[in-house]
Amino acid sequence: MIADRNLAEDRPTFVTHLDCGATGEAHDADVLQGLSRAGKPLLVRYDLDALGAAVDKETLAKRPPGMWRYREFLPVRHTANIVSLGEVATPLVDAPRIGAALGGRLMIKDEGRLPTGSFKARGLGLAVSKAKELGVTRMAMPTAGNAGAAMAAYCTRAGIEAFVFCPDDAPEVTISEIAFQGAKLYRVNGLINDCGRLVGEGKEPMGWFDASTLKEPYRIEGKKTMGLELADQLGWDLPDVIFYPTGGGTGLIGMWKAFDELGALGWIGKKRPRMVAVQSAGCAPMVRAFDAGTEHAEPWADPHTIAHGIRVPAAIGDFLILRALRESGGFAVAVDDRDILAAQAEMAAIEGLLMCPEGAATFAAYKQALADGRVSRDETAVLFNCATGLKYPLPPVTRRIDHTKPVDWSTL
Ligand SMILES: Cc1ncc(COP(=O)(O)O)c(C=O)c1O
Repeated sequence: MIADRNLAEDRPTFVTHLDCGATGEAHDADVLQGLSRAGKPLLVRYDLDALGAAVDKETLAKRPPGMWRYREFLPVRHTANIVSLGEVATPLVDAPRIGAALGGRLMIKDEGRLPTGSFKARGLGLAVSKAKELGVTRMAMPTAGNAGAAMAAYCTRAGIEAFVFCPDDAPEVTISEIAFQGAKLYRVNGLINDCGRLVGEGKEPMGWFDASTLKEPYRIEGKKTMGLELADQLGWDLPDVIFYPTGGGTGLIGMWKAFDELGALGWIGKKRPRMVAVQSAGCAPMVRAFDAGTEHAEPWADPHTIAHGIRVPAAIGDFLILRALRESGGFAVAVDDRDILAAQAEMAAIEGLLMCPEGAATFAAYKQALADGRVSRDETAVLFNCATGLKYPLPPVTRRIDHTKPVDWSTL
């Protein structure tokens, strides 16, 4: 077996402390943390001067690709604590025919290639590694499916017990996947926030570590590697605009943090992508808050969409998402489920790329933004396809052939 040097070599770490995302109050980085003392998300901070003196782009370029290439930007202290299932660098796939038809410049970052078929492998790979480092033996989370699948797999790998709570109507494949990969999975007759409440209530009696989105500081650092990897792939030059399907917002906040850190190091210039949060019209709390100019988002009543991963009626990191959108000069946009399905079908039929509904929402949003002029045709756009489309129900096929009878080939 060829050893991945990223998983075998010790490398220095540069974490100094954790900051409360709301108050800036410092917290200890080397004890297990959940929310800040103010009840808000915590963000990992690094000694970037020391980091910049220890590693440069050329050194990174010689390492194997994948999220652990960026080890100095991550909080895991000891190599032995890394829990890995073979995280690849996900490709940036072009869409030449669609691009030509629209007159636009788009690329799709296909996160569906990661272990467990989604970008959740980045966040949970990191969170489970850090949990192992800090002595956690039991974890729990609410999930729309993909995060639970990743937590199940990485916890099993790490020997950590996993409890997962999932809305009853989450995609069946993912529900089975979570249970099959070793987690104790419970279907809940409610939404993701109802599942989240159960995880919170069970904390004391069950003694588990709550791995809910942004209720612990580590997942976001894993998701941050999307931004690091994107910059690396593009020669440390960033696209003009990024379309991201936004539920809890970890990826969007994480990428924005990555660009901040790269900017502080001087690895990228002043240019930053405009960040666009894509939601479904049936659950669009960030769009409403962005348009209203508020700092926080009101919970969305009666959320419904086929894109389960973005059916998040209230996000604890709402102010961080909105801050990133505004700082970047981006915006938030809602698309109808009908347009999501049409976009998914178009990408599959024209480019041979099977996006998940959440990913397809970014394509629908991109087309909408080109049409209404919010994005111009000469801007380079990266769309995030956060999971493989194979985990979701696809339209039924009715064409059949009876092989015992003669075939009328003219009807095919
Ligand atoms: C496929 C997919 N896309 C997007 C999201 C939303 O991700 P985030 O929590 O980073 O906003 C999820 C979350 O479950 C998801 O599974």
